[in-house]
Amino acid sequence: MANATNPSRILETGFGFWESKVLLTAVELELFTKLEEQSMTGVSLGGILDLHPRGIWDFFDTLVALGFLNRDGTGPTALYSNTEETSLFLDKNKPSYVGGILEMANDRLYGFWNDLGVALKTGKPQNEVKHSQKPMFEMLYEDLPRLEQFMGAMRGLSIGNFQAFAQQFDFSNYESLCDVGGATGLLSSLVAGQHPHMKCTTFDLPVIEPIAKKWITKAGLSERIDVVSGDFFKDALPKSDIITMGNILHDWNLEKKKHLIRQAYEALPENGVFVVIENIIDDDRRTNAFGLMMSLHMLIEFGDAFDFTGANFWEWCQEAGFKRYEIIHLAGPCSAAIAYK
Ligand SMILES: C[S@@+](CC[C@H](N)C(=O)[O-])C[C@H]1O[C@@H](n2cnc3c(N)ncnc32)[C@H](O)[C@@H]1O
Repeated sequence: MANATNPSRILETGFGFWESKVLLTAVELELFTKLEEQSMTGVSLGGILDLHPRGIWDFFDTLVALGFLNRDGTGPTALYSNTEETSLFLDKNKPSYVGGILEMANDRLYGFWNDLGVALKTGKPQNEVKHSQKPMFEMLYEDLPRLEQFMGAMRGLSIGNFQAFAQQFDFSNYESLCDVGGATGLLSSLVAGQHPHMKCTTFDLPVIEPIAKKWITKAGLSERIDVVSGDFFKDALPKSDIITMGNILHDWNLEKKKHLIRQAYEALPENGVFVVIENIIDDDRRTNAFGLMMSLHMLIEFGDAFDFTGANFWEWCQEAGFKRYEIIHLAGPCSAAIAYK
């Protein structure tokens, strides 16, 4: 909260990059994964992570102070361990791992955000496409490790929201779902896994198909999920009772957003449902700071792409012919904006 006599919040936010970089570096070093097997002294943990002795106590104790590590005792014999939260979400060996998005934040986004000022002055992207004429996804996907990193990142960002959607939405009146831009097939896997009557399709670019198949096979759901490849700007979307798009519309400018909404409308039957899962900004654009910063991030990644409010979404959906609309809050800053045909 703002306080006119105390500048603490200003300074805390100004130095937010310290906090961020400590956590991102711990993820980069796989600290939480390595610590999961057993509690360790600072010297042992520093040894396993191959760290110089100068920084270890400051680094580990900062993580304690930030609430990301437990420490039992003080001094050299004290034992560090994961908290309940870091054990569940930052141990790479667990399916609940969300660190993929933090790995990408550290590796790509952290540096790009240094050029936020340039982005604001020029309206131009500040990522890999900055010195290239290629479109963002083409550039991102021409390097296999970068593609795999992006896919892992999307899982980390989306798993909590997709799980909340799979639990909260009433699927009883529907039989089929197509997740457009489905990446690793995560949303389809969560819906198919929890709703045995649902037949799911995950639709994405051809380059993604082997990655999606790998993840779906790993989840034991190959019989229940079709993997369809195509380009949503060139091909019709597979017909389905429910069309979902997770973090898709925000990647594009207004004209392309409207094209995707029309494509969804075409693919749905009468009474079909179009579900958009994103960090939907509050209509008054005052409270969902993460959604607003995600929109700044879209400037950094794409230039003309942007995030939007529920009211914006409903206006575009009405233009396409949808009849009714609602918002379901999912996890944190994310919601499902739902339009009914
Ligand atoms: C930001 S990711 C979202 C992934 C996933 N829906 C989620 O929310 O975690 C955007 C997805 O759109 C896919 N995509 C981009 N351009 C596409 C196109 N022209 N046709 C089909 N899929 C496309 C990308 O491959 C990527 O998987």
